[in-house]
Order: sequence, then structure tokens, then C-alpha cells
Amino acid sequence: MSDKLIKIFDTTLRDGEQSPGASMNMEEKIQIALQLQKLNIDVIEAGFAAASPGDFDAISKISQVIDKSTVCSLARAISRDIKAAGDAISQAKQKRIHTFIATSPIHMQYKLKMSPDEVIKRAVDAVTYAKTFTDDVEFSCEDAGRSEMPFLKEILDAVINAGATTLNIPDTVGYRLPHEMGSMIKELSDFVNNRAIISVHCHNDLGLAVANSLASIENGARQVECTINGLGERAGNAALEEIVMTLKTRADYFNGLDTNIHTKEILAASKMVANITGIVPQPNKAIVGKNAFAHESGIHQDGVLKHQETYEIMKPEDIGLSDAETIVLGKLSGRHAFADKIEHLGFKLTQEELTHSFERFKLLADKKKEIFDDDLRAIITDEIVKGDQTYELVNLQINDCMSGIPSSALSVRFNDEIITDAGIGNGTMDAIFKTVDRISGINGELVDYKVTAVTEGKDALARVVVKVIFEDHTAAVIGHGLNIDTMVASARAYISALNSYLATKDLHMARSRGGI
Ligand code: KIV
Ligand code: ZN
Repeated sequence: MSDKLIKIFDTTLRDGEQSPGASMNMEEKIQIALQLQKLNIDVIEAGFAAASPGDFDAISKISQVIDKSTVCSLARAISRDIKAAGDAISQAKQKRIHTFIATSPIHMQYKLKMSPDEVIKRAVDAVTYAKTFTDDVEFSCEDAGRSEMPFLKEILDAVINAGATTLNIPDTVGYRLPHEMGSMIKELSDFVNNRAIISVHCHNDLGLAVANSLASIENGARQVECTINGLGERAGNAALEEIVMTLKTRADYFNGLDTNIHTKEILAASKMVANITGIVPQPNKAIVGKNAFAHESGIHQDGVLKHQETYEIMKPEDIGLSDAETIVLGKLSGRHAFADKIEHLGFKLTQEELTHSFERFKLLADKKKEIFDDDLRAIITDEIVKGDQTYELVNLQINDCMSGIPSSALSVRFNDEIITDAGIGNGTMDAIFKTVDRISGINGELVDYKVTAVTEGKDALARVVVKVIFEDHTAAVIGHGLNIDTMVASARAYISALNSYLATKDLHMARSRGGI
């Protein structure tokens, strides 16, 4: 490996999924993994195999479909986790196990209740066992940002001797300042002296994750862990797109350090992750925010028109922006052109998904003048996130909501039977959701509701994301709905949350009966 190459380790599917409300189903994770491969990510952390059967299955499936990037599973430093990780990645072409244990005094004393010597022994045992599944083993010192340097050196030395090939130094709680992170990495890098690759994993609690990652790179880190759109636990992780574009844009300063990333795929990846998780980057988010390349002031617009570099340090096309803006297909476009376009956007669909998506595209093309890439992305994502459809919306009628009592009449398909019912509410949305509750006999409490327009224009598709708590469960489930009519999109989102709830309930029941 060239000493100028910065490996990109993407943890959107693991740490990113730990963002509140970002949990993804298997199909969604596979689509994201495929897009990460198009980005040319070096290592995809596909999940935490021991966390749940769903995580295990998703990692196994991703291991089967990804053939260029390394596929990695996280594992605590315990044999049960390492075995699950090793089994889940067994079919990957290139595979890595990432095992970790906390090394800071506060974590060892209060969380692990272990002595430093016990922690070192556990780490060495974990790495040794992980090596029986793959040569590529990464070891992380959780909370390294608050760990003591002599202890870090001792444990890193021990795991190198046990065979660890990458040593990750996480600033787990986002505590370090850039110059502190930089000097810590410099000292560790000198100590390790090329016996393993030094990696960093910075959290964004003080808004310093990207700055800390860059300071680490400057001081010897040759792998950086990050996520699309900066998703992740609490305030998130370092944003992949910011690190990669900083290295590219300021190549003069970083003196030849570079990544393998195909930057033109950045925007597609960002949009896919935002559509699937429902967590859309703020408009002024660097690189991928809606306004990141928009020039509002007349002086700026005039300058850019005269010479792009007056106000632009990066080319929008370098992150794939110009492609995404184009009007793509029309009413007369055929299935072949549609399939080509979908593949170009980074999706891999089954024939059935393709057929459904094409039908939805045709219906939309009848109603909407111009169909953009973002419309197609929204349709496809909606098909993917749909999952099991125990209940399916067939028809919706709402009354005049200004003068009378807001009411709705709904027909849904359930087990090949059409059920119709009506209900009233404090507003139209309330009436719709209450009618769904009446039909299913399951009460839901709406805890979050978001609607966004997929594109500009009065005829834009509405994307609705809801979070609902059903019955007496404490955890909210997420539902997605898409339609040119906001009320239909809302009904679909609520029904999709209900379907997800029923699917997890079925899984729990099957498991408690010993079925899984
Ligand atoms: O933040 C952290 O310390 C982690 C480790 C598991 C790498 O996510
Ligand atoms: Zn983390």
C-alpha cells in the first residue's frame, strides 16, 4: 500500500445505523452497500453480527453481493461476538473482523469493571481468535480519546503481536481538539512504526470530527472511519464527503495524500442514505447540503458566471451534482431506458421490483411534467423500503376539511380481502390515522411526522416519514410514504409503519416460540 493512500472505512451501516431513527432493513442495507462499492470504499463495515439475527443476515447477504470492497463486521472482544462476525463475513471475497474493547480508566472501571491487565488479555484473546477467521483483523481501543498514552502503547503492542493489522484510535465521545488528536496519533504512529496501519474514528460531539480526522491523517493515520452525511451515534461521525473532498480540494496542502474514492458518486450516496433513513442533511451542510453549491447573492452569481472559481473551490460535477439535476425520462420512455437509468443511479433491482417501479414511473409521468433523477430515486427507495405489506392502501377519500368535521374513508387490502372503513379526527391527517387504527384494531401514537418535497415545482412528489409507537411498545417504528398527494403519502407512511411493527412483532413471536 502506498504511504500516500488514505483508506476509507465506511461505517454508515454500523455506527451510522446507531443514529436515532436510522435503523434499516436488509434490502435497504444491500442497496447502500452497493452504492458504497460504486464509491470505491476500501472497507464497508456492514454491521454488528452479534447484535441481532437481522444484522447477521444483512452482513452475510452483503458479503455475497460485494466483490470489490472489504466487508467487515464489528465484534466486542468476546468469543461469541467474534464467531458471529466470522460466520457472517465468511462468504466475502475480502473480509475483516473489527474487534474492540474500552481502554479509558473511566470505561474500564465503571463499564467493564476490569483491571487494565484483564483488558489486555481480553484484547489479545479476541485478536487471536479473530485471526482464525481472517488475516485482516482490526482492533479498536474504545474511548482512546480519554485513555492514557502508556496504556494505549502497551495494549497496541500486545495486539500487534497477536496479529492485528489495523489499529483504530477512536475519539468515542468526541472530546479531543484537533491539535491534541494530531499529537496523539503522531506519538502512536511513531511507536507502532509501520507494524500495522493506524486508523481513526472521530465522533462529532463538539463539531470537530472532520477536523480531528484530518489532523490525524496529517500525523500518520492511513485509515479513516467515517459515514455518509456524518450519520452516527449522538452527534454522528466524521462525514465521509467532507474528508474526501478536503483531501481532494486541498491536495496542495496534504502533499499527495489521497483516497480511492470515486467522488462523482458522493451525491448519489448521500441522497440514497437520506431517502432510506429519512434523515436529510441540513441545507447548509458542507458538500451535500441542498445549498452547498447554490449562489444566492447577485454579486456571487455574477462572479461565478464570469469565472466559476471566483466563488467555487470545488466543481459541482466532482461530487456528481450536474448529473443529478438533469431531466431524465418522459412518458414515452420504455422499460429498457428506465432499467438503464436505474442502474446508473446505483440501484440493483429484482425483476419484480423493476416492474413495480416502472409502473409507478409511468403513473407519475402521466401526472408530472418533468421527471428528475430525484423522482426516480424516491420511487425506487420507496419500493425498497416497502418491505412486507400486510396492509396496503387501495383507496382514500377525504372530505372538505375547511367547513365540516374532518373525516376520511379508506380501503385497504388485507390478506387478499378489501376492508373499507371511515373515521373522524381533529384534522384530516388525524382522521386518516384513526381510520387505519380502526381497521387494524391496533392503536398508534404518532411521535414524529415529516414531509418534504422530492423536487421543486407545485407538482412535486411528497415524501412523508412518520414515527409511530403502536400499542404499549416503547420503541417507535418508522414508516415511509410517497405520492404526489401529501394525504395519500401520509396514509401510506402510517400504514408502512404499521406493517413494520407487525413484521417485528411476528419475528418476536416466532422467536419466543423457538421458531428462529
Ligand atoms: O465510537 C467508537 O468507539 C466505536 C468503536 C466500536 C469503534 O464506534
Ligand atoms: Zn463510533
